[in-house]
Amino acid sequence: MLDTTKFYVTTPIYYVNDKPHIGHAYTTILGDVLARYHRLLRVPTFYLTGTDEHGQKVFEAARRNQIHPREQCDRTVVRFQELWRKLEITHDDFIRTTEPRHSEVVRKIMSRLYQEGQIYPADYEGWYCVGCERFFLEKDLEREKCPACDKPVERLVERNYFFRMSAYQDWLIKYIEEHPEFIQPSHRRQETLGFLRSPLNDLCISRPKTRMSWGIELPFDQDYVTYVWFDALVNYISAVGYLADEEKFSKWWPASCHLIGKDILTTHTVYWPIMLKAMGVEMPRAIFAHGWWLVGRDKMSKSRGNVVNPMAIAEDYGVDPFRYFLMAEMSLGQDACFTEEDFFARYNADLANDLGNLASRVTRMIERHLDGALPGSLNSGDAERDLIGACRAAVGGMKENLADMRIERGLAEVMAAVREGNRYFEQNAPWQMAKAGDWEGVRRVLANAAECLRIVSGLLFPVMPGKMAELRQSFGLGEDAARPDIEKLAVWGADWRERQARPVANLFPRIDVEAERKKIARKRDAGSSPEG
Ligand code: MSP
Repeated sequence: MLDTTKFYVTTPIYYVNDKPHIGHAYTTILGDVLARYHRLLRVPTFYLTGTDEHGQKVFEAARRNQIHPREQCDRTVVRFQELWRKLEITHDDFIRTTEPRHSEVVRKIMSRLYQEGQIYPADYEGWYCVGCERFFLEKDLEREKCPACDKPVERLVERNYFFRMSAYQDWLIKYIEEHPEFIQPSHRRQETLGFLRSPLNDLCISRPKTRMSWGIELPFDQDYVTYVWFDALVNYISAVGYLADEEKFSKWWPASCHLIGKDILTTHTVYWPIMLKAMGVEMPRAIFAHGWWLVGRDKMSKSRGNVVNPMAIAEDYGVDPFRYFLMAEMSLGQDACFTEEDFFARYNADLANDLGNLASRVTRMIERHLDGALPGSLNSGDAERDLIGACRAAVGGMKENLADMRIERGLAEVMAAVREGNRYFEQNAPWQMAKAGDWEGVRRVLANAAECLRIVSGLLFPVMPGKMAELRQSFGLGEDAARPDIEKLAVWGADWRERQARPVANLFPRIDVEAERKKIARKRDAGSSPEG
């Protein structure tokens, strides 16, 4: 996803029925990484995330906790906000659907659609479970009983409001066919087109308050609240000023990319485009659905007790390694597995051995042999050809891979440049040059290895902002440590000047896998999951 004029990226807004898990953390880190890469490319960027606070799920959670839904929201939203702080998420806005700036826009939209006859009242008839207080579709029943509680369901007729979604079916199919980049990856586009082969029904967009009162009241009927998805999707435009701040809205809309998980494909690629079309608003450029994190081979679920807590991992092993692992491990668009063993293996191989090792060897030798002073010139020649090539490939690859949403491939190319750095260092053996008194050689090798580190640390900065800033600062790149710039990264020697360097001894301390395994087993025996 590469936008060159402006970049507006969103995550789904998360339900506040429970604390955040690795799935929430993943999408939010992905959004952050995309936003940070665009800032590095000097593209004006707006990154939005937030919480979905109305509807049945939050209402039920509040009831379980015996508190008011508003309190449920206020208590849970801070867990998301704390986690985003911890994970160094640089969102430009955080929207809560209970805020008036959002609910007022939803009400205005509803009024307009109602006046235009795009929303109309009718009877809804379906299978209702009294215990769960929910309607189910016939196909979702299990042995003609409620799929959630296994109790008998009854046929119920209820007055409701409907949105004329069916009228837009042909338009949507044509739009998707004519805009191949609209739904990504392409297998998800096929999935939506497949769904659209069956006739589309009008969408029931109201809930009677007698059944579920936690939502935005319909502006034209106070006995009803808005269906949670018809409320939630609007966040993507209400946050950037739709019907409130024209200038802001036209600056950011249409969104460059809505990031979503594969389970919320239909709401985003069918309901949302049709809602926008009915409102006369331009389509977002792209909707990108990523896969799921599985735990081992299983789906993550509370009942399995295998829910991965991102806060605990970030605390135990560091925010940056966690961000790096999530970005490097998942092939965007497919499912991926989370296991501690995979995390340890990748951490030790890529971060401790390759990157951490290069950083500590180079900075230590600069301190030892050059008194911490980097030489004023690189004097790159034939010996540096492969090293320069690998760094160039990493810069070019990062842009290309970003455009194709192949972050993991981009990172693999940066790691290849790091390994080339280690190879260069080994092959040229500056410690032997020092022994032989070849100080010219020592300066050249250390300066060129440091230049490799300048470039790779810049490219990895959006993924590991904390550690890469530390590394860049150790090379005296103080002022732009936190804002590497693509133009300086793209040219070998572009930013080269005499500077002081300090050793970075232990950027990524090696994980003692055996000791960690024992710790995890002890925690398991004590009855708590290792992920907390
Ligand atoms: N509130 C709606 C979204 C409204 S957007 C206008 C919602 N919220 S959610 O909290 O249930 O889920 C948010 C996201 O988490 C979804 O994109 C979902 O795909 C993602 N994930 C939930 N479990 C996941 C994994 N195990 N792995 C990766 N992402 C997963 O849906």
